Amino acid sequence: MRHFTCVKDLGDLHEALQEALEIKRDRYKYVELGRNKTLLMVFFNSSLRTRLSTQKAGLNLGMNVIVLDVNQGAWKLETERGVIMDGDKSEHLLEAIPVMGCYCDVIGVRSFARFESREDDYQEKILNQFIQYSGRPVFSMEAATGHPLQSFADWITIEEHKTVDRPKVVMSWAPHPKALPQAVPNSFAQWMVAAGYEVVITHPHGYELDPKFTAGATIEYDQMKAFEGAHFIYGKNWSCASPEHYGEVLSKDRSWTIGERQMAVTDNAFFMHCLPVRRNMIVTDDVIEGPRSLVIPEAANREISATVVLKKILEGLK
Ligand code: CP
Repeated sequence: MRHFTCVKDLGDLHEALQEALEIKRDRYKYVELGRNKTLLMVFFNSSLRTRLSTQKAGLNLGMNVIVLDVNQGAWKLETERGVIMDGDKSEHLLEAIPVMGCYCDVIGVRSFARFESREDDYQEKILNQFIQYSGRPVFSMEAATGHPLQSFADWITIEEHKTVDRPKVVMSWAPHPKALPQAVPNSFAQWMVAAGYEVVITHPHGYELDPKFTAGATIEYDQMKAFEGAHFIYGKNWSCASPEHYGEVLSKDRSWTIGERQMAVTDNAFFMHCLPVRRNMIVTDDVIEGPRSLVIPEAANREISATVVLKKILEGLK
């Protein structure tokens, strides 16, 4: 594998799952693979899970790991070509990226949607510039429109907990005080369909995701109807994805907050969320603390998904 930005890059999903389970049994099985190889993790945005789990994945594979927080200690970066740089930005991304590539073998990039332009976000301008100009394999640590390492971890978690071959997986919009990107729900929808599950997405009118990510899923605007018979509930907020209202928050309706009322109509479903989560906005205390909550196992599986992805990239370097 050269780059990892979406589920398709992983290749055969069944094989990837077997690799994930193998690594879970012995995290250091491939510790020689990354010897004398350097992983650079570049963060344009905050992180807890991605930072720690991906760093741990690099260590599992014997890699040296460098973490760069672009907004803390580096020169302020200009990202637009053609700009007269007479303001507060001292360095252009077009120099910074190949320089970063000089010091490492693999680059992970976290760069959220900026909500300045839907076109720029959906073209993944920052991530694609790293792919184009770094000269290194690049993997997404959450970009503007996708978070594949998270979805891979979610999928491993579902495979570990499912009791039927083809579970009903429901992703539900839930309220949040500020605008969040569509990266996690886009990737989750795409990955769950690729896994062959019955996938239902429920949200208020106006919160439709880009069909390129949701093809194969059923859209149901009635949350209670969507939850009926579900085996897994994936809670998430996202802001509007449409060109007319891109990045806007149209609703903070707390009747969509996932609680016992909704969970009662499921088939004893597990609750999932990528974290961080706003309690009693997205999900009630009772549900997230309850026996069917998988939020911690999901987070734990981030180490596994990142180890599999890095292993495949390292194998591609040979
Ligand atoms: N789920 C996730 O990516 O968490 P962080 O933003 O803390 O990395």
